Amino acid sequence: MLALAPMQDVTTLQFMRVIARYGGPDVYWTEYFRVHGDSRPEKWILDSITKNPTGRPVVAQLIGNDIPALVRTAKLLQKHPVAAIDLNLGCPAPVVYRKCAGGGLLREPARIDAILGALREAVTIPFTVKTRIGFNSPAEFDALLPLFAKHPIDLLTVHARTVVQMYRPGVRYDLIARAAGELRCPVLLNGNVFSAAQARQLLAETGVRGLMIGRGAIRNPWLFDQIRALASGATIKRPVGRDLLAYIHELWDNEITPGVRESAQVQRMKKFTNFIGEGVGETYLHDIRRVTTTADFWRVCNQFLDHNEPLSLEPTEKPSGMNILKGGKFPEN
Ligand SMILES: Cc1cc2nc3c(=O)[nH]c(=O)nc-3n(C[C@H](O)[C@H](O)[C@H](O)COP(=O)(O)O)c2cc1C
Repeated sequence: MLALAPMQDVTTLQFMRVIARYGGPDVYWTEYFRVHGDSRPEKWILDSITKNPTGRPVVAQLIGNDIPALVRTAKLLQKHPVAAIDLNLGCPAPVVYRKCAGGGLLREPARIDAILGALREAVTIPFTVKTRIGFNSPAEFDALLPLFAKHPIDLLTVHARTVVQMYRPGVRYDLIARAAGELRCPVLLNGNVFSAAQARQLLAETGVRGLMIGRGAIRNPWLFDQIRALASGATIKRPVGRDLLAYIHELWDNEITPGVRESAQVQRMKKFTNFIGEGVGETYLHDIRRVTTTADFWRVCNQFLDHNEPLSLEPTEKPSGMNILKGGKFPEN
C-alpha cells in the first residue's frame, strides 16, 4: 500500500488532483483537522474529502487532546466519505506540542491511552494512528508500542524520528521493523523515502504493509508509479527537465486563486518549489527562493528545466539512516 503523507497547506484538494494524474498513491491523508472545545472541521480540509477528485480513499486526520471534542469530531467526520479516522501523534511544531497535542502527547503515554480508548469506541470505521518514535528519545518507543497493541487500531504509521529530531538525519527504520513484527495491525513506514530502489529495499527489510511518502512525492510526483513499476518489472518512467517543468505548470494552474496578488501567488508556489528544488540542485533552489514576480519565477524555472536531460529528483544530500538495517548501503535508483 502506498500512501501520500498528510502535509499541512500542501495536500489540499488541488494537490491531490495534480498528483492523481501522475498515478498517485493508493490512499490519501488529509492535513490535520485542529480539534478543541469549540472547533468545527475546517471547510478547506473538508473539501478534500467531499470533493475528492482522485477516485481513491481519503483518511481524515485529527490533532488535539480534548477527548470529548475528538470524539465529537470523529463522529461528525464519519458521516463523510472517509476511509478511516487518523490520530496525529507526531507534529513537532512547538506551538502544537507545547499544548500537549500532536508530538507533545508522546510525553504523556497515559493520556494517549485514554484518547485511543475513547476514539476506538467512537469510531466505527477503521481507526488509525500516525506517530513518531518518541518525544526526546527513541527509547520511548518501548512504552508506546504496548499502547498501540492494547487498543485494536486498524493501522499504525510510524515516522521513525523523535519530535525533538524534527527532520534531521537518523531515521530509525529498525524500530519500524520492530513495530511491524510485534503489532497485529498493519504498519506503514514513513520518513525519507525518495526513490523506487530504496522503497523496494525498505519494504523487503522491514516487513511493513506499505509506505507513506510526503516530501519525496512533492519533489517527484512519478515516485508512486516508479515504485509500482519496479515491483512489477515494468519500465520506470525517468522524467526529464521538461517533464518537471510541465508538472510545475500544472501546480501553478491548479493553485492559482483568482484575484490574489502576484507576489502571494509566487509565494504559494515556493511552498512546492522549496521541496522540488532539493531534487534539482542548489543553484536552482537559491535562485527560485529569491524570485518575487511571475516573470522571474518562470525565467528561473525555464533556465534550469527547459531541457531533455533525465533527472533523478532525489535530494542532493543523501538521507542518512539507511545503514541501520542489515548494514545496507543506500541504493542508487
Ligand atoms: C509541509 C509539511 C506539512 C506536514 N503536515 C503534517 C500534517 O498535517 N499531519 C501529519 O501527520 N504530518 C505532517 N507532516 C509530516 C509528514 O506527514 C511526514 O511524516 C514527514 O514529512 C516525513 O515523511 P517524508 O520524509 O516522506 O516527507 C508534514 C510535513 C511537511 C513537510
